[in-house]
Amino acid sequence: MAGNKVPNSIKNRKVPITQQSLNGDPIPKKFIINDEFYTPIPLVVECIKYVYLVPVDVVLDSAYGTGNFYNNYPSFTKNLYTEDFFNFNEKVDWIITNPPYSKIDKYLEHSCKICRKGFAYLLAIHNLTPKRLIECEKEGFFLEKMLLCKVDKWYGCSVLLVFSNQATKCCIDYQKRLNTNTSHNDSIHNSI
Ligand SMILES: C[S@@+](CC[C@H](N)C(=O)[O-])C[C@H]1O[C@@H](n2cnc3c(N)ncnc32)[C@H](O)[C@@H]1O
Repeated sequence: MAGNKVPNSIKNRKVPITQQSLNGDPIPKKFIINDEFYTPIPLVVECIKYVYLVPVDVVLDSAYGTGNFYNNYPSFTKNLYTEDFFNFNEKVDWIITNPPYSKIDKYLEHSCKICRKGFAYLLAIHNLTPKRLIECEKEGFFLEKMLLCKVDKWYGCSVLLVFSNQATKCCIDYQKRLNTNTSHNDSIHNSI
């Protein structure tokens, strides 16, 4: 899809404020998934500048929301967006956006399938895990660089992770999780 207006399906979308569990009790707010929050434009602009784009590139916003990323992609690239990422199967050069945090693994997996060059996702820093790096590396995408940032009112720090298949190694060193519950302090687990 290409265009500038916010689709009605997104404009009219309601974010649940309270939800009930099956027994009728309210679900504590911390357990309610809220993927609907939007990146401040100055940060969007910094994130897009951080990815090296050239005029022939096709750039996809895979988590359009209100279009904050899509509307700030350069005019020299071919820009697309989708509201249904997992059914979007065209090849693109880059994805740059802030994805729904409840679907990060599926987003990374599908991005590896459709990106010719790479993808850049703005995540909370605790979402950067060895397992995710390994899964992307298996598909040929290495973490090339990271832009660390702090947004007022967002929990913790955020980081733009740029994965590229032009890079040949990860820009940081990492280990799988060390299990400190056994007598073998150095036994390595693969759970995160
Ligand atoms: C964290 S918000 C960020 C929105 C926007 N990218 C921004 O930075 O302002 C993630 C967005 O992804 C959308 N989303 C969730 N699942 C999606 C899917 N399968 N395909 C496309 N968009 C999806 C949500 O509706 C939400 O608007």
